[in-house]
Amino acid sequence: MLTRHRHLCSLVLILSVSATLRAEQPNHAETASTASSADAGKRLFNSIGCWACHGFNGQGGIGGGMAGPQIAPDVLPRDTFLHILRRPLDHMPPYGEKVLTDSQIDDIYAYLRSLPAPLPAKDIPLLMKH
Ligand code: HEC
Repeated sequence: MLTRHRHLCSLVLILSVSATLRAEQPNHAETASTASSADAGKRLFNSIGCWACHGFNGQGGIGGGMAGPQIAPDVLPRDTFLHILRRPLDHMPPYGEKVLTDSQIDDIYAYLRSLPAPLPAKDIPLLMKH
């Protein structure tokens, strides 16, 4: 009876350890995949030319007409973002599924969300000159 009880104890221990391990794994995986997704998104953003209208950091283009608005670091909700790429409102060219898959759009989305907030104007010396 005593042996059996000890067995039960180790079983409970093993179960709780493996439950903890399992609970931790997805977090690690998620961090790694978010990072690689943002890297892939950066390459796409630059190679497919979003930067030409929206700036390299999504800060928005200069000049009227085709210049795109600021799109980062405050990024639209993911579904709206996807929808706009598929069916832009006006001057922006549409990006169909043959050009960008949903998962590539998710990569670009992860990249834009990974961008740091811009420095306040007072910390940019050039902007302090008159
Ligand atoms: C030729 C210029 C151009 C290119 C290239 C371009 N955009 Fe745009 N984008 C615009 C313009 C202009 C708008 C404003 C809406 C419109 O006119 O369609 C816009 C709007 C957006 C918006 C909505 C912003 C808001 O807050 O309403 C997002 C998000 C966006 N673009 C992302 C992208 C991404 C990602 C790419 C690359 C895959 C890209 N754009 C490529 C010009 C461009």
